[in-house]
Amino acid sequence: MKEKVLITGASGFIGYHLVEEALRQNLEVFAAIRPSSPTAHLRSLRVHFTTLPYLSGPTLEKILEAGQYHYIIHAAGLTKAKTQEGYNAVNATFTRNLGEAAVRADIPLKRFVFMSSLAALGPVPEEATRPISPLHQPHPVTAYGKSKLLAEEYLRNLPGLPLVTLRPTAVYGPLERDLYLLIRTVARGLEPYIGRQAQKLSFIYVKDLAEITLRALHIPGRNQLSYNLSDGNSYDKYAFAEVTKKLLHKKTLRLHLPVAAVRALARLLEEAYRFSDKTPALNREKLTELSAANWICSIREPQQDLGFAPRYNLETGLAETLNWYKANKWL
Ligand SMILES: NC(=O)c1ccc[n+]([C@@H]2O[C@H](COP(=O)([O-])OP(=O)(O)OC[C@H]3O[C@@H](n4cnc5c(N)ncnc54)[C@H](OP(=O)(O)O)[C@@H]3O)[C@@H](O)[C@H]2O)c1
Repeated sequence: MKEKVLITGASGFIGYHLVEEALRQNLEVFAAIRPSSPTAHLRSLRVHFTTLPYLSGPTLEKILEAGQYHYIIHAAGLTKAKTQEGYNAVNATFTRNLGEAAVRADIPLKRFVFMSSLAALGPVPEEATRPISPLHQPHPVTAYGKSKLLAEEYLRNLPGLPLVTLRPTAVYGPLERDLYLLIRTVARGLEPYIGRQAQKLSFIYVKDLAEITLRALHIPGRNQLSYNLSDGNSYDKYAFAEVTKKLLHKKTLRLHLPVAAVRALARLLEEAYRFSDKTPALNREKLTELSAANWICSIREPQQDLGFAPRYNLETGLAETLNWYKANKWL
């Protein structure tokens, strides 16, 4: 009989790739979605759909017991919200409730993998000599990062939970919608930057992330572990657009926008979206994250413990991504 994995956030960008990888590894996949979630892209895959009532612990427990899952990957999360409370409600409280239910439920759970974020630890100064390590004293610079850190703390306080916390840096690949905005802008001949200050950035291709996440399910034992994840390289602020334009054979006009002007624009956009359910792609939170000096993280720990060997760098990952965007008429 196949082992069962419950994947939350399955309708999202990373969730989709987790589902694909789990199927490739011959697991029986249960995709946790919302009634409103887009699922057209999942319908051709052999998955069962389920909905989790994150606010009701007893019901969550019953659903987990009915499912008898061997593994849970919790990737549902809010990457855009207007307030700290908004982020915390989904990223921290839902996560705590699911973790508690997983501990209480009578299920054969071997591993609970939480998709946190490098944002939970926060960036380091540009001149920092050491990359962000799992032992790094956390200092998230965004409300999003704070909510992910709070979620990590909640889960760590559940000693019965066989927890693996993953903290990926910026993830790109097919279906991704934020870095895609930059790719589309480059495709149209513009290469915008926020300020002129030097930056060290890191990225991970979604297929490498999916593969290592599935590998984390099989770490023996029940001890709690955490890993920062990137493709292992350090990129300057120009690298992403440079590789994109090279692959697209485009010439671009490079623009350095003053930070203060971009901040003013972000504030205007926030104001314009004030009465909307949506949050603008550019907001002051996002700006803080985008203009941080140094997001380089150490991947020595997952290399040692999990044999993590990223197969993609920006050149190869973006080549696949751009082909997908073109094939799907996003470009
Ligand atoms: N993308 C990155 O660069 C990155 C980097 C580090 C960590 N992460 C983490 O990876 C996870 C997935 O991110 P992503 O980039 O794939 O984002 P995404 O495409 O926006 O997917 C988010 C997923 O979470 C679900 N979700 C959001 N709010 C929910 C709620 N209130 N109740 C239940 N489900 C909810 C969404 O469901 P719907 O489809 O119904 O909206 C969707 O399936 C998140 O936890 C994020 O924090 C992402």
